[in-house]
Amino acid sequence: MLIIKDLKKSFGGFVAVDHVNLQIQQGEIVSIIGTNGAGKTTLVNLISGFLKPDGGTILFYGNDITYTSPYTRIKEGIGRSFQLIQIFENITVLDNVRTALFSKYGITQSALRHANHFGDVTSEAIRILDNFNLLDKKELVPKGLSEGDLKVLDVAIAFALKSNLLLLDEPTSGVATQDKFKVMDSIVFAIRKEGISTLIIEHDMDIVSGYSDRVIVMHEGKIMAEGKPEEVMENREVKANLFGILG
Ligand SMILES: Nc1ncnc2c1ncn2[C@@H]1O[C@H](COP(=O)(O)OP(=O)(O)OP(=O)(O)O)[C@@H](O)[C@H]1O
Ligand SMILES: [Mg+2]
Repeated sequence: MLIIKDLKKSFGGFVAVDHVNLQIQQGEIVSIIGTNGAGKTTLVNLISGFLKPDGGTILFYGNDITYTSPYTRIKEGIGRSFQLIQIFENITVLDNVRTALFSKYGITQSALRHANHFGDVTSEAIRILDNFNLLDKKELVPKGLSEGDLKVLDVAIAFALKSNLLLLDEPTSGVATQDKFKVMDSIVFAIRKEGISTLIIEHDMDIVSGYSDRVIVMHEGKIMAEGKPEEVMENREVKANLFGILG
């Protein structure tokens, strides 16, 4: 569904993404790991359209989207989490998801009054919250949620806005270490159930290895290794650079 060919992005003279090639299949969960400054977020920004590359191509379902706007890409089904900025503070968890669904379907307040959309959207929102393990929190406002549940809600909203491809940049950042796996459990359960292709960016191999079909290691803008989590963890170069193990 997503094919990236020879993608390149520099800032001044600094090459942040260096001739990256990458493919994501339908329903696949791919994680990109790498040290600080490896180019992971830059790559996500190139895929979502917030940055334009200096060279290379991005194909989404066969269409060249390399230079299309972020808005076009969202409409075509590339969603991302936004570090909580898409959560509305003063409405409930349920209404946050409903709002995302209304926006996806282009339903305005007046159309709501005339049509019978409200019940359908509510059912869909409840199904989404159930999948993301947030149903028992549906009547809470966001400040009543734990940091971990906020992160899960953020992804649930990105999902509700409609995605064929979800881009998650450090979905567990800011969450206490002991809660990170719980957050990943909820997110990945829902993603698997819906069959959504997902790209997860993380620092930490431990957090993603149990959840990923494939892991890609970035280092200094390049892809250093790629494969099943257990294969990548055994890669000598990866061990040396990412885990500081020499041997
Ligand atoms: N807008 C920008 N202008 C200049 N340099 C940038 C810009 N964005 C990123 N960089 C540089 O590009 C490199 C890659 O940054 P990027 O944020 O993609 O790394 P990352 O792998 O996401 O790191 P982290 O794990 O810290 O999130 C870094 O050296 C960063 O300083
Ligand atoms: Mg980053």
